[in-house]
Amino acid sequence: MRDEAPDVAGTSERTRLSRRGLLGLAGAGAAGLVVGGGAGAGIALAAASAGGASGADTNARYPFEGSNQAGITTPVQDRLHFASFDLSSSATRDDLASLLKDWSAAARAMAAGKDVGSGAVPDALTYPPDDTGEALGLGPSGLTITIGLGPTVFTATDGSDRFGLRAKQPKLLQPLPRFSGDALQAGLTGGDLCIQACADDPQVAVHAIRNLSRIAFGRASIRWSQLGFGRTSSTSTSQVTARNLMGFKDGTANLKAEEPSTAESVWVQAGDDAAADWLAGGSYLVARKIRMLIEDWDHQQLGEQERVFGRDKGEGAPLSGGTEFTALDLDSVGPAGKPAIDRAAHVRLAHSSTSGAVILRRGFNFVDGNDDLGLLSAGLFFIAYGRSPEQFIAIQRSLAGHDALNEYIKHIGSGIWAVPPGASPGGWVGETLFA
Ligand code: HEM
Repeated sequence: MRDEAPDVAGTSERTRLSRRGLLGLAGAGAAGLVVGGGAGAGIALAAASAGGASGADTNARYPFEGSNQAGITTPVQDRLHFASFDLSSSATRDDLASLLKDWSAAARAMAAGKDVGSGAVPDALTYPPDDTGEALGLGPSGLTITIGLGPTVFTATDGSDRFGLRAKQPKLLQPLPRFSGDALQAGLTGGDLCIQACADDPQVAVHAIRNLSRIAFGRASIRWSQLGFGRTSSTSTSQVTARNLMGFKDGTANLKAEEPSTAESVWVQAGDDAAADWLAGGSYLVARKIRMLIEDWDHQQLGEQERVFGRDKGEGAPLSGGTEFTALDLDSVGPAGKPAIDRAAHVRLAHSSTSGAVILRRGFNFVDGNDDLGLLSAGLFFIAYGRSPEQFIAIQRSLAGHDALNEYIKHIGSGIWAVPPGASPGGWVGETLFA
C-alpha cells in the first residue's frame, strides 16, 4: 500500500543521486537545459544530447511550475501518453484535492528528471518502491504533464454536486455537442480528469502516466488512454512541420508560441467567466480520437488527396499557390474555372475566415495495431487548446458537415477538460479551484 511508504510527495536523495549517476554515464558534462516558462515560449535546445532511446535530447527540461501549465504552448514533443480518469464513487472533495496535490508533487519531480517519492531503489526492501523505475537513466526528456478537469467534476452524470464545486463550474465546460458523423464509443469518451504526458522518449511519457495512475489508486482509475507517436503539429516557429499518417504536412497554419496573438487565443483571461476566475491562466483541452480509413485513402489518386486538404503533398503549399507558409487565397480560381482550393477542402473549412475561430492544435499519430478485418487501426489523436470551448466547436461544426476529409476519417473518441493555470512555486495544479 502506498500509505505505508514515507515521503510520498518528496524526492529521495539517494535516488536523485542514482539518476544523476546514470545520466552522467550517458552524457558526461551534458548540462540539462531548463527551457520555457509557464507561457512555454522557450525552445528545447540540444546543447549536448545524452542520446535516449529515440535519439532525442534526454536533458531537455520544462519546469512544471509557471503561470500556465506546460505542455500547451511548449514546443510539441515527439511522444504522447494521454489518459482519462474517473474518480471513484467513494472519492470525497478532500480526496480530489489530495490527488491533485500528489499528482503535482510527482509531476514536478518527474519533469525535473527525478524519481517519484522515495524513488525507484529506496533503502528499504520491505515495501514496493514509490517509483516504478523504468525511467531510470532516461533524464527528463522534455517531459510535460498537463492536468485537466472534466465537466463531471462539477456536475456528476446523475446531476449531483458530489464535490460541492458546481458553483465554480465554468459555464462553457459542458459535454461537447454531437457533431454530424460522430461515431463515438463510450469507452473512448469523457472522463472526470485527464493527464496529457508528452516527452521525447516514449518510455518517459509512459512512466509518467503509469506512476500517476498508481498514485491515484483508490481515488481515481484510468477510464481510457492513448499512446501517440510522431507529433502532427508544431507549436513553435523553431520546429519543422511534421507529417500525419496520410502523408501530409500537418501543423503549418497552427498557432505558434512566438506569435503575440497566441496567448489571447489560448489562455483564459480573468473576467472571461465570473464563476470561474480560478481558471484564469488556464485553457480548455478538447481531445478527439480520429480513426483514419487508411486503406481507402491509400487508393486515392494524388490529385484527389490534394483536393481533400487544399494543399499539395510534397511542399505543403496551398493549392492557390506559393510555398508552405504562403497564406491561403480562398478566392483563387484554378485552370478549369473552379476554386483552386476546393469548396469542401479541409483547410478552407477549418480556416478562421470560414469557421470564425482559431485553436492551438497539439495532436499525435497513433497506430493501435489492426482491427478484426486486418485493417490498420490508425489515425490522429487530435488535441486542441483554446481560451473557450466555442473555438473548437465552431471549427468542428464547419468541418463536420462538408469536409471532403470526412470520407476518410471517423471520430471515435472525445473529451473536454478545463486545464487549470500552472502551479505556483511549491503549489499544486487545481489549488485556485479550492482556494
Ligand atoms: C484526421 C483528422 C485530421 C487531419 C488528417 C487533419 C489534417 C490537416 C492538414 C494536413 C492541414 C493543413 C496543414 C496545416 O495547416 O496544419 C490541416 C489544417 C487545419 N486543421 Fe486539420 N486535420 C484533421 C482534423 C482536424 C480537426 C478535427 C480540426 C478542428 C476541429 C482541424 C483543424 C484544422 C485547422 C484549424 C487547420 C488550419 C486551417 C488554416 O487556417 O489553414 N483539423 N489539418
